[in-house]
Amino acid sequence: MFQPDLLHSKRILITGGGTGLGKAMATRFLALGATVYICGRREDVLIKTAAELGSHGPIQAIPCDVRNLDAVESMIETIWKSGPLDILVNNAAGNFIARTEELSPRAFESVIGIVLLGTLHATMACGRRWLKAARPGVVLSISATYAPVGSAYVVPSAVSKAGVEALTRSLAVEWGNRGIRMNAIAPGPIPTQGAFSRVLPRPELEARALDRNPMHRFGTTEELANLAAFLVSDGSSYINGEVVRMDGGEFLQGAGEFSNLGRALTNEDWESLKPRNKKSQLA
Ligand code: HXC
Ligand code: NAP
Repeated sequence: MFQPDLLHSKRILITGGGTGLGKAMATRFLALGATVYICGRREDVLIKTAAELGSHGPIQAIPCDVRNLDAVESMIETIWKSGPLDILVNNAAGNFIARTEELSPRAFESVIGIVLLGTLHATMACGRRWLKAARPGVVLSISATYAPVGSAYVVPSAVSKAGVEALTRSLAVEWGNRGIRMNAIAPGPIPTQGAFSRVLPRPELEARALDRNPMHRFGTTEELANLAAFLVSDGSSYINGEVVRMDGGEFLQGAGEFSNLGRALTNEDWESLKPRNKKSQLA
């Protein structure tokens, strides 16, 4: 899909890059010539991923909890010692389904800390360095389709992702004149162990999600990685402040007043709804 050196010499940090979508993006970026840094809380997971992907290109694992500002600063400082980053991918997240009234304060803090504060910490640490050195930079954040409208049962994630999208659009304008591009991807369901075990933890919930989608399938990690590669590449250098939805049309199906008729009406129903000739209608 891309020229093989699309990301040649680009230095990229992917938060939460040890698993799922982050790992898929790391794989794709390495194949396109990038140098990749991945961070996460679990060192063993990071080391395993770095070892697995090491044959594709230069990759380094740095354990870091993005909720902790000092830890993020220290990670970014370590990376900058060997050269500035060109691209930051805010991908780390926490989420689970639950009834909101039953959530403890720590449950809110945990998810908001990872998704919203973690994204802020990493974005500010890179942004300040890029601005100070008058260097261009690219930030890509992974949001979710429910960010603009909210969603029941994932409220800490919804408020955080909405904040991430607001940050993306705000800084796109504030920093755009100094060469920093800010964009986001809002994926629909893509099977990963981390996400599906927490937001679709039972087969019937997964089946319901599949049924809801106009394309009757989930997205793939490769499709997500392709879109991410395009958005972080210089080929998309005039795209700034956008949130690109990638969900097979699921979001739009939810908004269309008549969209659910496809399931409610049979072929016979549609035939019977066709206008007959004028005479029989008047009769
Ligand atoms: C209610 C819960 C809970 C649950 C945890 N908590 N899980 N409350 N229902 N299912 C509460 C705990 O009781 C605790 O509060 C507080 O949250 C923090 O939990 P810990 O386990 O101590 O925190 P921590 O180890 O930091 O784990 C963070 C986490 C966990 C977010 C809770 O799930 C995690 O590590 N997630 C990382 C990966 C992830 O979530 N990936 C999915 C991304 S998918 P108390 O008060 O008891 O101490 C996504 C989009 C999906 O974002 C969209 C699909 C379409
Ligand atoms: P995942 O595999 O669970 O990825 C989450 C990653 O974040 C993990 O590698 C995790 O590693 C890391 N992480 C969590 N808390 C962290 C912290 N405090 N500091 C640093 N890293 C942390 O799930 P995924 O499906 O790939 O999700 C990736 C992104 O896509 C997330 O932003 C998610 O919201 C978004 N998304 C996913 C879907 C989907 O269907 N898969 C849909 C919409 C949006 P550690 O646990 O080791 O820290």
